[in-house]
Amino acid sequence: MKGIICAGGSGSRLHPLTLVTNKHLLAVYDKPMVFYPLFTLIEAGIKDIMIVCSNEHSGPFQKLLGSGAKFGVSISFKVQDQAGGIAEAVGICESFAAGESVAVILGDNIYEDNFKKDVEEFKSGASLFLKKVSDPERFGVAELDSSNRVISIEEKPTLPKSDFAITGFYIYDNSVFDVIRGLKYSGRNELEITDVNNHYVKNGSANACFIEGEWTDAGTFESLYRANSIARKITMNKS
Ligand code: DAU
Repeated sequence: MKGIICAGGSGSRLHPLTLVTNKHLLAVYDKPMVFYPLFTLIEAGIKDIMIVCSNEHSGPFQKLLGSGAKFGVSISFKVQDQAGGIAEAVGICESFAAGESVAVILGDNIYEDNFKKDVEEFKSGASLFLKKVSDPERFGVAELDSSNRVISIEEKPTLPKSDFAITGFYIYDNSVFDVIRGLKYSGRNELEITDVNNHYVKNGSANACFIEGEWTDAGTFESLYRANSIARKITMNKS
């Protein structure tokens, strides 16, 4: 399985922090933010990783991460010209995936959980990872049936149908690239990862897991603040 870190986008919600640098290069506790999703993939057993980043900041990413040899993996870089959405960022990695399944992680998502077993046991369709949150309207939100199966996902709903966010780690089989090719740009001019996930939900091949460890994104000031304390806990537990 190949790994993809989506580290493009404009980071505009973090201005002025992101006026001259990229969100994923900001410090989170004792490491640059992008190290956390990178280590999540590495600890899941992924050895071949593509970082999707904006043109403006591709140089600093390469300088920071190099070939990946110092982490024991292979890292490549792909430029996403515009912030055309997470699904667009995944879509431009089709030749890199070379027919294999992909583990996709958002560059601002920080997880305590280890996904090795999920990667090893993945067969087909999509695996989605859910977490109960206090502010579901900020996320892709799952509608669940009485057996806790996902029946639909809404992106940033004003009236969320549950408190369960679809977090930013996804495993897809290689059909994801066909799914992305069939998408249309949304009202905010992005190819939406929620549309990809809804495709798998609708055809009955989405597997939903409820994660146990702490999780946050780091795309707003408040979540970045929380990310620092989760990152500190992760780092302390490892040392
Ligand atoms: O954090 C989980 C949430 O992430 C999900 O619950 C949502 O369903 C999903 O849409 C996403 O929501 P956000 O609004 O938080 O996404 P954001 O635009 O902040 O992008 C998340 C990461 O994806 C960001 O760190 C950079 C990357 N990205 C984003 C865009 C728009 C790209 O690589 N390219 C892009 O064009």
